[in-house]
Amino acid sequence: DGPSVAIVGATGAVGQEFLRVITDRDFPYRSLRLLASERSAGKRLSFEDREYTVQDLAAPGAFDGVDIALFSAGGSVSRKYGPAAVASDAVVVDNSSAFRMDPEVPLVIPEVNPEAMANVRLGKGAIVANPNCSTIICLMAATPLHRHAKVLRMVVSTYQAASGAGAAAMEELKLQTQEVLAGKAPTCNIFSQQYAFNIFSHNAPVLENGYNEEEMKMVKETRKIWNDKDVRVTATCIRVPVMRAHAESVNLQFEKPLDENTAREILRAAPGVTIIDDRAANNFPTPLQVSDKDDVAVGRIRQDVSQDDNRGLEIFICGDQIRKGAALNAVQIAEMLLK
Ligand code: A2P
Repeated sequence: DGPSVAIVGATGAVGQEFLRVITDRDFPYRSLRLLASERSAGKRLSFEDREYTVQDLAAPGAFDGVDIALFSAGGSVSRKYGPAAVASDAVVVDNSSAFRMDPEVPLVIPEVNPEAMANVRLGKGAIVANPNCSTIICLMAATPLHRHAKVLRMVVSTYQAASGAGAAAMEELKLQTQEVLAGKAPTCNIFSQQYAFNIFSHNAPVLENGYNEEEMKMVKETRKIWNDKDVRVTATCIRVPVMRAHAESVNLQFEKPLDENTAREILRAAPGVTIIDDRAANNFPTPLQVSDKDDVAVGRIRQDVSQDDNRGLEIFICGDQIRKGAALNAVQIAEMLLK
């Protein structure tokens, strides 16, 4: 019973996490098809007591009979093969940025804007976009506060993990760490500069306004998800040598006053959010604490001393990039289709 599911990019970091999330959440499926590039076609993968052969996405009929296609193989693959999946009446849950800003495509965080999915149903081809990982992690914590006091302006600084650049980037971080400790020159294949023992501006292309694409995704996607074209968002996105969870410092300016104790209560009640905020023990969210976890963690919750009348808050958020930032959010979207 359940839908027939295809995973596009099944051999990648997010593709592999889709499988773990499907198991962890007991996601029902009738059949499963694992798709990747011709490089991986024929590779055998075992999952839930069965052996699967990875199939070439480019082979004809790749989406025949597929109800839900979870895509995570990059924007160009989504642009090329997403429409073919839709033509086969599949609902595509796309992890890339290819369709996020298309006005016809819902951009969904299930805890935040499930209503955007209203017109999507199984059996009718459609694309649903998974937001950018930094946007998801930020809005999981910022949205409940926004609902209460309305965010006028949000200033974000990210500390982003290797996983956002894929499995090969995670391998590069490990390899470089060993190389540098051994006194060797680090191998730079994925990133153009040394990643181990360093931080650098996010590798997304830098645009004419000086922001990089990752930063502008946070600006534009927040407006779309909140359905608020006026909210002011600015971001600085940085890569740090962390394996799989992002951290974000978020400064919020509100229309209405919001004191930190009320904010803490709101966040305590928010689904998918855990508070780690022990000032006495200096225990606050870390990427390692949230790795392999579903919830995003929020701490350093404090009034912004530069704002009058409790109109500002500082918070620090960590979330697993592969999980809530990608695979978990996509599987939650798929679960909404089953209701
Ligand atoms: P493959 O392993 O065959 O290259 P990651 O985000 O970890 O880098 O993973 C990317 C995923 O997307 C992998 O599963 C990869 O498959 C897949 N992929 C990349 N390019 C293509 C393509 N042109 N066609 C199909 N799958 C692709």
